[in-house]
Amino acid sequence: MNYPFWDEPMGYGVLMAVIAVFHVFVSHFAIGGGLYMVVSERIARKAGDTKRLKFIEKLSKFFVLVTLVAGALTGVGIWFVIGLINPAATEALIHNYVWGWATEWTFFVVEIASAILYFYGWKRMAARDHMIIGWIYFVFAWLSLVVINGIITFMLTPGQWLATGDFWDGFFNPTYWPSLVMRTGVCGMLAGLYALLVASRIEPGDFKARMVRYSAGWGIVGLVVTAVCEYWYWKAIPAAVVEKALQIMPTPIHSIEYSVWLAMGIGALLVVFGVLAPRKLSSPAAALLMVLGLVWFGCFEWFRESIRKPYVITGYMYGNGVELAKADRYKKEGYLAQLAFKTGDDGADLFRHACRSCHTLDGYKALKPAFDGTDRAFIAAIIRSAHLLRGNMPQFLGKPEEAEKIADYLYQRMDKRPLDEVYGLQGVELGRKAYALRCGKCHVLGAASDKSKSFAGQSADDLNSMLNAAADMGEGMPAYTGGAKERAGLVAFLEQLGKGVKK
Ligand code: HEC
Ligand code: HEC
Repeated sequence: MNYPFWDEPMGYGVLMAVIAVFHVFVSHFAIGGGLYMVVSERIARKAGDTKRLKFIEKLSKFFVLVTLVAGALTGVGIWFVIGLINPAATEALIHNYVWGWATEWTFFVVEIASAILYFYGWKRMAARDHMIIGWIYFVFAWLSLVVINGIITFMLTPGQWLATGDFWDGFFNPTYWPSLVMRTGVCGMLAGLYALLVASRIEPGDFKARMVRYSAGWGIVGLVVTAVCEYWYWKAIPAAVVEKALQIMPTPIHSIEYSVWLAMGIGALLVVFGVLAPRKLSSPAAALLMVLGLVWFGCFEWFRESIRKPYVITGYMYGNGVELAKADRYKKEGYLAQLAFKTGDDGADLFRHACRSCHTLDGYKALKPAFDGTDRAFIAAIIRSAHLLRGNMPQFLGKPEEAEKIADYLYQRMDKRPLDEVYGLQGVELGRKAYALRCGKCHVLGAASDKSKSFAGQSADDLNSMLNAAADMGEGMPAYTGGAKERAGLVAFLEQLGKGVKK
């Protein structure tokens, strides 16, 4: 915790997603586009096909602009953002991979320079020279993926690096190869999809049919490579990581299951238009394909980022920048003792460093809805038990009195009226809300740690005694501290759960 905290209102997750999603799309486009252009240029020149050459020239304008402007700007943007939102993790990545980054930047400079020359050279260079430049553009764009892929995959599966600290162990980690081949397939697929979009606007005729068929071929080959490698990638992730994610964060895992359907849909559309009816491809259909392709790829990236929780670098650093190796020191000396920059408001500082990198008070992953209408003691208990909650959170490593300070800070900002008044609820509905806030954070109905069965056949008295003994029911389970009205509602709701009426 050697850095001050940047208190931006949007929520780190949102900010990162906005810029990273854009960058990831653009950078894969740029690589695939490079290959598409040189290969197509060669085919066109061999056949003396000037129409096709014109088509590629038109495409190159977009690809080059995208690489130069959007790719470079968002790439630098990512550095700004990660440096601000997780300086500790950024520092770790730089320390371990400084030569990797330097290599990647060198490749990127060559990529940029050759992209400019390629675009400039259409009318001013001999065919052979122009194609050589095109190949240099593609190869160096792809090489930058070769390098950066080692660092991105390292964050999810550092493999032997955790034991050896060796550059190459971290670089060629368990998901390196599947990810590299898969991303190469994505590059090809996205390039094909974009070319389809442009081809869909050509006036109807033989030439359009030819370009649509050809570009759909790129999409299909890219999709097949990607689909096979996605399975390979999935198998390369340590079973324990997937297991844990399935229990506490089922949504991203399901998203990857749904994405299989999405991929099949894209494949079907590509076959329909590319093979069966290339003349019929309209711009809206091509745009739909493009959107589906991006959504599909977005699902994969979301999945990859999500299953890494609670870590930013698996097994090495938590999402809030705390190194696992320092966990004992945090517990012994306390959290505050580790902070180099303090504002004087301990509760605020602790909240920022321990929670705020993943949560906001009332925006992204908001804590107000989680705590409004509850009480200070409950909030403190939840902080101490953060690692037990659904969602895969890091353990709170501070001293118990520091958890109290965060609880104070949060409680001051919550709605302090009783739960029934906050939400205007009565009876069983009030109980359902109480369950969601006070129990469901750990016992998700129908999923992780569901305790519904324990309530079967219990009377209201039994359930009341259970709530009295809540703090003794499990290590880390909070005492029940809700008011009388809320408690009556909760008991009614639990009775109903026990009867299996509402599960
Ligand atoms: C590394 C990121 C991370 C950190 C740090 C973190 N959380 Fe979380 N927290 C999550 C995620 C992810 C979830 C699941 C949220 C979801 O599914 O929308 C979650 C869920 C929660 C929930 C449950 C919300 C609900 O109603 O179900 C609470 C309460 C919570 N966190 C409080 C805290 C507090 C207090 C801290 C600081 C001591 C903290 N978190 C630190 C990531 C984090
Ligand atoms: C911070 C997390 C947390 C919260 C919140 C929480 N529990 Fe628990 N609960 C646990 C843990 C941990 C255990 C013990 C391990 C286990 O059985 O899974 C447990 C166990 C239980 C058990 C099983 C006890 C047994 O002997 O079989 C029941 C029933 C239960 N909780 C009900 C509740 C109810 C009702 C609420 C809300 C008022 C609640 N819990 C809130 C963490 C929590």
